[in-house]
Amino acid sequence: MKVLVTGNLGYIGSVLTEKLSSDGYDVVGLDTGYFKDNLVKETHEIKNQILMDLRDVSENEVDGIDAIIHLASLSNDPLGEFNPNLTDQVNNIYTVNLAEIAKKVGVKRFVYASTQSIYGISNTSQELDEYESIKNPVSAYAKTKWISEQKIMSMASDDFIVSAFRPATVFGPSPRFRCDIVYNNLVSCAYTTGKIEIYSDGSPCRPIVHIQDVCEAFISGLIAPKELLNGVAFNVGIMGGNYTVKQIALAAQNRVKGSELVFTGKYGKDERTYKVSFKRIYKVLKDFYQPKWNLENGGDQLINFLKEINLSEEIFRGEMTNRLKQLKLLSKNKLLDKNLRSYV
Ligand SMILES: NC(=O)c1ccc[n+]([C@@H]2O[C@H](COP(=O)([O-])OP(=O)(O)OC[C@H]3O[C@@H](n4cnc5c(N)ncnc54)[C@H](O)[C@@H]3O)[C@@H](O)[C@H]2O)c1
Repeated sequence: MKVLVTGNLGYIGSVLTEKLSSDGYDVVGLDTGYFKDNLVKETHEIKNQILMDLRDVSENEVDGIDAIIHLASLSNDPLGEFNPNLTDQVNNIYTVNLAEIAKKVGVKRFVYASTQSIYGISNTSQELDEYESIKNPVSAYAKTKWISEQKIMSMASDDFIVSAFRPATVFGPSPRFRCDIVYNNLVSCAYTTGKIEIYSDGSPCRPIVHIQDVCEAFISGLIAPKELLNGVAFNVGIMGGNYTVKQIALAAQNRVKGSELVFTGKYGKDERTYKVSFKRIYKVLKDFYQPKWNLENGGDQLINFLKEINLSEEIFRGEMTNRLKQLKLLSKNKLLDKNLRSYV
């Protein structure tokens, strides 16, 4: 099967393309390359790499492709606020455009990387189900992902099998590692500074999920029978995985002897709190999605990875592992224009 992975030169994309290639898929990558050189570890790049902005994609890039896993986006809340209009262009307008082109040229499957940020501020202690729960996206990132997810799901047909996966916050090793996402951040902070800085009061719930398990979920979108997933959205996470930030911090602390918890209060009370139900994916895709990682074994693996790459505080806090900082640096160095288009 020939699979186009957009955003393949990012945190998840780097791991997903490796996994797809080793599973025998014929992989084509498409990415504008914002984080192409942000490698904390060597990786085998794929042969078929298209360095292109999603906003320039035409039928040429999609022709002959059997399935698309669409990861490319301005990929978190602070990044989305960088330029909300641009976020809408990338995460919504041109994301939907890609799906339309794909359907037109006869791509058979479209797997969309959505997000649990679409639930936003939740005023219920109930676990949020994919369909019954109220969506209350707060940031430009969350709003644009929610709009595009709905448009893409409505394009499902017998010949165009679409599915959306809404991962919890991801953690775990990747050659293009991110330290701006919660568990990676807290473990890396403990490892490099001996302290764990928590910007909120630690009370918000933040479901988390391991990068390998997320890749497995996306791949299920390629292979599960269409009756199970056509037009369906799935939360991706682990049973019992609705941890509070404080629980995640304590798990990080347990992995770095002598590390200290510090509540900085930098962001005051963080209102983005939600508990998510993972029943649907566990039940419907049980033959395809069997998550193996949790706070404990994933935390141990993360520490070993940080040792292997010898993570320094400079890398932890710098552009290499923080998406917004990297985009600001590229802009400052005139490598990107105000619309985040590459000059080179
Ligand atoms: N990391 C998480 O915790 C998480 C959680 C839920 C959902 N997701 C979703 O998974 C996907 C991948 O996330 P990630 O953590 O790997 O993010 P990332 O920022 O590391 O990777 C995103 C990739 O998209 C590319 N990209 C951005 N704009 C582009 C454009 N206009 N044209 C072409 N390429 C473009 C970037 O260059 C980058 O390589 C995103 O869609 C994100 O919303 C991530």
